[in-house]
Order: sequence, then C-alpha cells, then structure tokens
Amino acid sequence: MKLTLSVIKADIGGYVGHCSSHPDVLTRAEKNMAAAKKAGTLIDYHVTRCGDDLQLIMTHQKGEENGEIHKLSWDTFLACTDVAKKLKLHGAGQDLLSDAFSGNVKGMGPGVAEMEIEERDAESIVIFMADKTASGAFNLPLYKIFADPFNTVGLVIAGNMHGGFAFEIHDVKEHKKVMLNAPEEIYDMLVFLGAPSRYAVKAVFHRETKDIAAVSSTQRLSMMAGRYVGKDDPVCIVRCQGYFPAVGEVLEPFAGPNIVEGWMRGSHHGPLMPTSVAQSNPTRFDGPPRIIAAGFQLSGGMLVGPNDLFDDPAFDNARKQANDIADILRRMGPFEPHRLPLEEMEYTTLPQVMKKLKGRLIDLD
Ligand code: 13P
Ligand code: 13P
Ligand code: MG
Ligand code: MG
Repeated sequence: MKLTLSVIKADIGGYVGHCSSHPDVLTRAEKNMAAAKKAGTLIDYHVTRCGDDLQLIMTHQKGEENGEIHKLSWDTFLACTDVAKKLKLHGAGQDLLSDAFSGNVKGMGPGVAEMEIEERDAESIVIFMADKTASGAFNLPLYKIFADPFNTVGLVIAGNMHGGFAFEIHDVKEHKKVMLNAPEEIYDMLVFLGAPSRYAVKAVFHRETKDIAAVSSTQRLSMMAGRYVGKDDPVCIVRCQGYFPAVGEVLEPFAGPNIVEGWMRGSHHGPLMPTSVAQSNPTRFDGPPRIIAAGFQLSGGMLVGPNDLFDDPAFDNARKQANDIADILRRMGPFEPHRLPLEEMEYTTLPQVMKKLKGRLIDLD
C-alpha cells in the first residue's frame, strides 16, 4: 500500500527555559491527533518531544505536502501554544512565525520531513529528532550510514546495497539542489557535506530501485524569520533493513559524538549526545545538543512502537565522550571555535560595540 509518513515539529514553548516540554502540551497534542485519527484523516500517529521540541509523527494516505495534514499540524501547534501561554512556558509559540496559515507549514517555522512509500512486508523505520542544533547536523551521520563502508558493512557485503545511494543536497542559502552518487562521487559530495551550515542532505535514494531511503527537515529558522527565534532542531526519517542499511548500521554513527552547531543561544559548537526520550533535557549550558531515535515497524500504516533506540547502555560511551567534549569546549567560554564564527552567530552585539567605540577605532599606519 502507498503510505505517507509525515514528521512535523515545532518548539511552541519550553519547560523550564529551553530544556524540556511540559506534559500538558503533549496531552493537548495527543487529543488533536486522536481526533484526526478517529475522523479518518490519519491512519495512526505518535506524539513525542525532544527537549523543548514537540514532534508530531503521522501516517496517512494523502501524499506529501498535503494541505489537510499541514493544517492539522498547524492547528495542533496553535492549540498547544494556548496551553503553553496559560502555563507561561518560555517562548510560547516560539517557532510559529506567522498567524496566517496558507495551506503548507513550510516557511512558517515548523520543521518538516515527509516521505511517500510503498510499505514493504517488514517496514522498519527510525525517526531521529534533535534539539539545540541546526539542519545540517544530519550530514555526517547520513554520509556514514549510506556511503561509508566502515560504518555500513552492508555496502560491501550485501548485493542489494552494493550499487550505492544517491544524495540530494540542498544549498540552504542560495536555494539550489544537486544530486550526487555514492560511491563514485563521494569526494565531490564531501565538499558540500563538510559545510553543514550552508549545505544539507535533504534526501537519500537507493540507486537501483530509486526508492527513497531517508529524508530530513532542512528548514533554517533564522533565515525564515530574519532574526534569531531558536534553532532548527531538525528531524530525519530513515528506512532500514532489506535493501537499506540495518537498524544497527543506521544507529552506528551516533556511537561517536559528532560536533554540531547550536547549544546555548544557538551560537556555539557542541557534541551531539544520543539519549533516551526521557533524558532529552538539554540542561547544561542549554545542552549539550541532543538526539533521540524512535524506531517503528509499520503495519498497514499503523506505527508499531516506538522503540526508544538510544535507551541502550551501548551508547553510554558516546554519552561519556559527549560530556568530555562538552567539558573541553566549555573551557573556551566566548572564544571560537566553541563560540561560532561571527557570520554564523545567531546573536551578536558587534554592531553595538562598534558604534560605541566609533572614533576610538583608528587606522593602522
Ligand atoms: P537477523 O538475522 O537477526 O535478521 O539479522 C540480520 C541483520 O540484518 C543484522 O544486521
Ligand atoms: P531552542 O531552539 O531549542 O529553543 O533553543 C534556543 C536557545 O537559545 C537555547 O539556548
Ligand atoms: Mg526553545
Ligand atoms: Mg528546541
């Protein structure tokens, strides 16, 4: 059967500060989703959160960018914002950049990852959700999962994956895209992927079947808003098993923490720490950045799960390493490379300081 999986997320208010979500907000989202399931709009849903980001995971048969599904998400975010406002949560309605909904939440603040698939006999999927980081954070893990044989041995020893994967890469600043093939174009590909603040992997495709393997949200909140309102806190859907990488190959990149942009005030580099949902509460210096992984089997569109995949002692070392990296980076305080370079910072007082020091800043001879 043809099935659409939509993951739509927004930060509609933090509890306390930016570190977590209030249970009443999740309960409100559940209520809306349950009503949509009862009405037949959705086949199934799962509501969760990563840090202060509310995540709506939905299955239906209406295709990608469907007005009804996007409106349902938008209305759910608005209803949850009302709850957040009543509780005076921090940054209530933070990611909702406009009050005029026009059929699609794209460009309005929420992050969106959607894929239409033909559900396989066993459809194993992993949904990654991150907090305190930006959309390019998936570049390194997606490269490892779909192009690095030292991560994914299936690329070497599984005949149905040996033909490789194609990467759709977006230039989020110039609004351009390019398709590049692994393995033969990996050196070209890495020129882009290594610059995650500018280029982000939007989707990955199995080259022989052309089937979609992964899709991520690439919306850049600061570019939509033209000012700092919060970080993108992206999501990514990955199909697993069969002619896609195994679940363990998909999780493997997170066994060694990647350093990403985000963390305090969206203006720092920090380690991406894999945790259970319960531990996705970025408290220390509003971090370090978190990632959770919800695993599901799809059955006729029903979301069988979630299995909280990072709730496993096998990721204890990654968490320890992330804490060690956090200690080292934090020692630098406001210095680069812990603090982002000037042009990447979400906040800056540079113009004010320059104005104040006007006249004192004099030419060198
Ligand atoms: P099973 O034999 O348990 O299905 O495992 C196969 C596999 O893909 C392991 O990565
Ligand atoms: P969020 O994007 O998760 O709201 O974080 C914002 C921030 O500034 C944290 O310090
Ligand atoms: Mg927030
Ligand atoms: Mg957040």
